[in-house]
Amino acid sequence: MVETTISVSDIGCYKVEAKLNGQLVGELEAFPMVGLVHIKVEEKHQSQGIGTDILNCYVSELKRRQFARCVLTTHKVNVPMMRICEKLGFQCGPQEAGNDGLGDTVCMLTF
Ligand SMILES: CC(C)(COP(=O)(O)OP(=O)(O)OC[C@H]1O[C@@H](n2cnc3c(N)ncnc32)[C@H](O)[C@@H]1OP(=O)(O)O)[C@@H](O)C(=O)NCCC(=O)NCCS
Repeated sequence: MVETTISVSDIGCYKVEAKLNGQLVGELEAFPMVGLVHIKVEEKHQSQGIGTDILNCYVSELKRRQFARCVLTTHKVNVPMMRICEKLGFQCGPQEAGNDGLGDTVCMLTF
């Protein structure tokens, strides 16, 4: 059973931790007004719904605190990340956020 917990630091950084039997298997750090710092699930635990749980925990907390929107950016080629954003109702912005200089499109997603 994976448990997610969320905390907010003094400088406003939101941190979600996902633990399986007490062991850290995934985490997220983000500043709501800026975007994601990172989200990561340990490789052997990927594609089991943990990334969705982590992002959902963050989004639910923002909604609980009555944030009007949440902005994330990711590479369009990052299929798992695009998928979990889609599952949680994020929509791609009307314009691409740009290019990372290495040829990958950066997508801005909002709820
Ligand atoms: C992005 C990341 C956090 C997702 O975590 P996760 O625990 O694997 O996510 P979930 O299991 O909740 O969901 C992944 C979804 O992508 C799908 N998916 C994964 N790989 C896929 C692929 N190659 N093609 C199509 N779909 C794929 C899964 O089937 C799942 O969708 P489903 O629930 O409809 O079946 C994880 O892949 C990760 O840590 N990646 C490395 C770091 C990273 O890229 N971070 C994002 C930077 S913005």
